[in-house]
This record gives sequence, C-alpha cells and structure tokens, in this order.
Amino acid sequence: MALAKIVYASMTGNTEQAADLFEETLQASGMTVEKEQVDDSDADFYDDADLIVYATYTTGMGDTPEEAEDFLDDIEEKDFSGKPFVVIGSGDSEMHEDTFCFAAIDAAKIFEKTGAKELAPVYKINNAPEGEEKDGLIELAKEVAKKF
Ligand SMILES: Cc1cc2nc3c(=O)[nH]c(=O)nc-3n(C[C@H](O)[C@H](O)[C@H](O)COP(=O)(O)O)c2cc1C
Repeated sequence: MALAKIVYASMTGNTEQAADLFEETLQASGMTVEKEQVDDSDADFYDDADLIVYATYTTGMGDTPEEAEDFLDDIEEKDFSGKPFVVIGSGDSEMHEDTFCFAAIDAAKIFEKTGAKELAPVYKINNAPEGEEKDGLIELAKEVAKKF
C-alpha cells in the first residue's frame, strides 16, 4: 500500500483539522498514512513516503510559523526528486487578504526546490475547513489517492 506522510503546523487547531480530514480521506481511499506535528518531526520523516503532505497556518504578516522554520530549512537540503507533494494552507482571507496563506505558498516553493512534484496547487482554507472548502479538501484527497 502506498504510504502518505503528513506534517502539519497548527496553533489553534484549524490546520490540524484539515490535516486530520486529509488523513482520514486518504486512509478511506486505501492509503497508509502517518502524521506528525512539525515540532515533533524532522525532514527525514518524508524519506520513505510515496506522497508528501505538508499543512501549515500563516502567522505574523505572511510568516511561516516559528516552530516550522528549522524543519523547512532542513527540507530545503533534501533531494525528493520525483516524489509527489501536496501543500495545504489555513489562513484568514478577511483579516489578512494581502498575505493569505503565504506560509503555505512559501512552503510549496521549498518543496519544489527539492525536486518534488506538486500534484495540485496549494489548497487554501479560511480558518477551519467547513462547507465548500471542506468538501473541496476531501475531493482533493480522493483525487490524490487515485494516483497511487
Ligand atoms: C497573529 C496572527 C497573524 C496572522 N497572520 C496571517 C497572515 O498573514 N495570513 C493569513 O492568511 N492568515 C493569518 N492569520 C490567520 C491564521 O493563519 C488562521 O487563523 C489559521 O486558521 C490558524 O491556524 P491554526 O488554527 O492551525 O493555528 C494570522 C493569525 C494570527 C493570530
């Protein structure tokens, strides 16, 4: 069975909800999934993954969460050539319209530098996944799982 590995950064739980939903949907679609919070993880975690999933909120003015900085610095040094990846972002498009989900967008650029292949554009969610955004996230996970 194909192995998906999810790392997420979440302060108040919104991104965690998105990561949980993605995990459950991938599992229901037949994938094996392992998931870690970014402060408990390191870049080597993805070494044996068939699919890389990274989920993050954005803080400050479009900033990467501090607890994710070392992790992403180490990711930048990795060679994940050909490995597929998906990035999920949670942000707030009303309060932070100009920097909506910037940390997720920046993370996707870092994964691209490793040679990994972006399976879908960064999936952006307003705060917790609800309604159409929730449905879209489930749909994305189903589509991604079909590739394995
Ligand atoms: C101090 C602060 C700064 C924020 N800055 C941004 C931002 O620049 N861009 C954005 O899209 N969201 C921003 N947000 C919104 C959070 O990213 C959003 O609420 C997210 O859902 C939090 O995720 P979490 O519950 O997983 O911690 C900010 C929130 C706080 C509290």
